[in-house]
Amino acid sequence: MSASSSQDAARRPRGAHPWRGVIEEYRDWLPVDDDTPVITLGEGGTPLVHSPWLSRLVRGEVHVKVEGSNPTGSFKDRGMTAAISVAVAEGAKAVVCASTGNTSASMTAYAARAGLTPIVLVPHGRIAAGKMAQAVMHGAEVIQVRGGFDECLQISRGLADTYPVALVNSVNPVRLQGQKTASFEIVDVLGRAPDVHVLPVGNAGNISAYWIGFREYAEAGVAQDTPRLWGFQAAGAAPIVRGAPVPDPDTVATAIRIGNPASWRLAEAARDESGGRIESVTDEQILTAQRELGAREGIFVEPASAAGVAGLVAAAEAGQVEPGLTVTVTVTGHGLKDTETALSGVESVVDSVIDADVSAAAEVAGLA
Ligand code: F0G
Repeated sequence: MSASSSQDAARRPRGAHPWRGVIEEYRDWLPVDDDTPVITLGEGGTPLVHSPWLSRLVRGEVHVKVEGSNPTGSFKDRGMTAAISVAVAEGAKAVVCASTGNTSASMTAYAARAGLTPIVLVPHGRIAAGKMAQAVMHGAEVIQVRGGFDECLQISRGLADTYPVALVNSVNPVRLQGQKTASFEIVDVLGRAPDVHVLPVGNAGNISAYWIGFREYAEAGVAQDTPRLWGFQAAGAAPIVRGAPVPDPDTVATAIRIGNPASWRLAEAARDESGGRIESVTDEQILTAQRELGAREGIFVEPASAAGVAGLVAAAEAGQVEPGLTVTVTVTGHGLKDTETALSGVESVVDSVIDADVSAAAEVAGLA
């Protein structure tokens, strides 16, 4: 490049980030047409971050797909841009969902943007404060149900069956179509499909969506093959692992506190067709993985999001990961959504309190 043309380039405005949201970026792959209004907050295009720590552990290359970087802080935005856009096209005036917190945070944001009335049903007292704040700020009608997520979903279905409200839980197939774009992005960035893809499993929509995406790219010849999918549930809420619904699921990872996942069969198909596995990790493993990811890699995720990382660590320690693999792990939601749980395991949030004095600071910091 000549000196003058490089100066020209320097003088040109760099412009906004060119990412246009998942509907525009992957329009040909999604159930929208030219008349569908695009309700977007610029979701998707999230970082795929190389992890030296996990790469060392598995003796391969591990990349973390950081879905907390979506506009409302979780992967739900991918499905919600699609579901809300289609709901608007179909003339919906109100939308309803059951949620452990992230679906409701996302749904209410996109509904606000579209001018729809959002109604959310959440388990009473079991929602992380950040997620509740999101629904409130987006102007939702928030209904707390004395029961768990599974009961909330039943009521949401009941409302949508009887009243003029559109259901936007992942039983709405458009949601999975939007969420599959995460697989596309992984292949687009890596230039190939990973050997193994790891993620947490709750209501089991996301693992099903990833499988759709990886399969479609392979069928279209964009990728040569598909990864094995490894899903991890929380031990106290692991119906797929146990092979039976869990009547009273419990885990510190409230986002995946689900006893009877709606996409159970789809998730089993994703596991089996991909040659993968769905297993469980304990709350302790989850919280350890959450802390390690934050302290070693600078990635702060909420507990549920760490379940996949915890599962990969356990598999590596058990010698179940062949060396030399390319592995991707989705961390699904941002740590800021649930600071209470993050800090609950910390003995003292404040290490020292000092007077405004450099040498006092140096001393307590171990510098002096
Ligand atoms: N990680 C986070 C942070 C979640 O919020 C969820 C689900 C999952 C993982 C599991 O994904 O359900 O597709 O298997 N949260 C839902 C909600 C249930 O209501 O926000 P899944």
